[in-house]
Amino acid sequence: MVPNSILKEFNQRFDGSPTHYIRSPGRINLIGEHIDYCGGLVMPMAINQSIHGWYRFNQSSQINVYSEQFGQQVAINPLDVAQKPCGQWRDYPQGILRLGVHRQLAKGFDLYIRSDIDAGGLSSSASLLAMMSLINHQALTGEVLALGARGERLSLALLCQQAENQFVGVPSGIMDPVSVLIGGAIVLACQTLKFEQLKALPPDYCFVVMDTRVPRTLASSGYAQRVDEIQQIKSILGEKIPAGGLALCPEAEMVNCLDKLTDPSLNRRARHIFSEQRRVKQAADAINADDLEQFGQLMQDSHRSLQRDYEVSCPELDLICSLSKSSGLSLGARMTGAGFGGCAISLIRTRDARSHASLVKNRYMAETGLEPRLITCEPATGTQIIEL
Ligand code: GLA
Repeated sequence: MVPNSILKEFNQRFDGSPTHYIRSPGRINLIGEHIDYCGGLVMPMAINQSIHGWYRFNQSSQINVYSEQFGQQVAINPLDVAQKPCGQWRDYPQGILRLGVHRQLAKGFDLYIRSDIDAGGLSSSASLLAMMSLINHQALTGEVLALGARGERLSLALLCQQAENQFVGVPSGIMDPVSVLIGGAIVLACQTLKFEQLKALPPDYCFVVMDTRVPRTLASSGYAQRVDEIQQIKSILGEKIPAGGLALCPEAEMVNCLDKLTDPSLNRRARHIFSEQRRVKQAADAINADDLEQFGQLMQDSHRSLQRDYEVSCPELDLICSLSKSSGLSLGARMTGAGFGGCAISLIRTRDARSHASLVKNRYMAETGLEPRLITCEPATGTQIIEL
């Protein structure tokens, strides 16, 4: 079951064979964007585009990680506290190993990574962090964490977020690591980390990822700026905001809060947080009632709010969503993830996947000169280890 090419490469690099396989999914977010760091409700779905890893424990204290995508091998010594982040992919494994209390001797491993998450905005970073956290957990406890071990998986998700915030230096929320470690499509309350599995779509409908091919160059600075704006809003509104976060502001208080925010852009940011939280609740009701028309409409409204109020979209994301909707084959489309480039998603009938893809592709290419990629995605299980 291990591809021959991997066996060969693994052997050449690490002089031996892998003993375990690990798959860690990417994710899309169906609705509830930029509100995880405001304590809000989100609806992420782990998808079949994944990072794959093959590994074995090596009886040393060193961790060797080879990434096919970057053509690079790094050696990490978790006992070396002097190693600093360097702004590259190795910061992610290193961050986990530094924070994951990996201080025991002879718990090292050799890991070969192949990724098929090749579009921006599908959370390859959380996928890699989750992979490292699960292998690290196994190294330290000897336990292969089951998919149903929800409490432990949520603790690992918090560790992943901490690694990204404190070591890598990105102030990301909790949505992505929870989605990747828990799997499936869930409705997640980011303040309490309570979640429920979302009812499956009727069998003839699916979500399509639409990759604009626009690199997310402003994503990290723009993202940090939004997180900072939310801090500013919190300090202006003070006690009017529940301790759990801006998204938990009661409906009756919202108008009051908006009145107090006289700075027009802070006012728009808060308006997005309030309206998006409301939309997630309505979207969960719509899915439960099999009302996909309503769900699609909420996706449209969410995109508009991200474009105009939160200002995290870009012309290509706006274009691809509008082409998808105007094809007549989509119930709704919106950007997914942090924005500033990357991917959008669209809800369509499965049987329309081909016609939808060709209509969107042709028009998008004609207008931008970029060749978009459209991929139908299925819900996938959370990060999982398989003994070989
Ligand atoms: C990125 C972050 C998440 C979340 C989304 C926007 O993916 O990592 O925590 O804030 O952006 O919803």
